[in-house]
Amino acid sequence: MARSKTCLLALAVVLALQGAIAQRASDILGNLPPTGDSLTLAHYFPEHSAKQIPAGDVISVVVSGRNTGSKALNLSAIVGSINSPQNYEMFIQNFTIARYFAPLAPGAEASVEYKFRADPILGSTPPREWTLALHALYEVDGAYFANTFFNATVDIAEAPRLVDPDLIWLAVTMIALIAGAAYLAYTLLADKLGLNKGKAKKAKRVDGPVALDEDEWIKGTHYDVAKRRRAAAKRA
Ligand SMILES: *[C@@H]1O[C@H](CO)[C@@H](O)[C@H](O)[C@H]1NC(C)=O
Ligand SMILES: *[C@@H]1O[C@H](CO)[C@@H](O)[C@H](O)[C@H]1NC(C)=O
Ligand SMILES: *[C@@H]1O[C@H](CO)[C@@H](O)[C@H](O)[C@H]1NC(C)=O
Repeated sequence: MARSKTCLLALAVVLALQGAIAQRASDILGNLPPTGDSLTLAHYFPEHSAKQIPAGDVISVVVSGRNTGSKALNLSAIVGSINSPQNYEMFIQNFTIARYFAPLAPGAEASVEYKFRADPILGSTPPREWTLALHALYEVDGAYFANTFFNATVDIAEAPRLVDPDLIWLAVTMIALIAGAAYLAYTLLADKLGLNKGKAKKAKRVDGPVALDEDEWIKGTHYDVAKRRRAAAKRA
């Protein structure tokens, strides 16, 4: 019973939070609440450098908020976008809102993790410059504030691939070249050694009976005539 009450309360909190902040990132991003002065933010990218971001990768940023004001506040959400470096008003990609419920008493500190992913179509080689903007939204007495903790130019690189297609192509070409050279070498060698069956048969083929008898071979030649004369002389 107590447990289901807690669940209901948690649900009510989530609903209240969702009702309080706009549902869609685009609604917030284009119309951010004013900057407040009671939340001091620090951030770091644990797995990536903030200077170069691989497109398509899930990028994690850890955001620490410290309530430097005199009133309790709620660190409510983080949202971000990729904008044109020439014109901030041009929103290239809006990241989804991550909602948190981090109540911070005056002087208290809390850390939340925000994950975003640059669209793979933004990745290029060489990396191209884009503006990355990240904002923390917080609530004090029902009023919302947005503090931008990151707004800088970043290089968005092509996502690293496990296997480079160029390398596969190179390997296939090399194997084909080696195989071709080996076949050519084998064919030439086989010809020289007479290993090639078809050609060997052709070379051995002789028309008619093979003359192995010396006499038959010399029949009708000048040598044959002389031989017969010598034989006749012996008999005489
Ligand atoms: C992103 O947000 C901006 C600012 O509100 C809006 O103009 C734009 O249409 C949004 N883009 C998308 C793709 O939702
Ligand atoms: C924090 O959020 C909860 C739930 O929405 C709300 O009851 C409370 O008043 C908020 N606190 C502040 C300081 O805004
Ligand atoms: C981010 O930086 C750009 C360029 O410096 C600026 O025009 C823009 O207003 C900034 N946006 C926010 C929300 O601070």
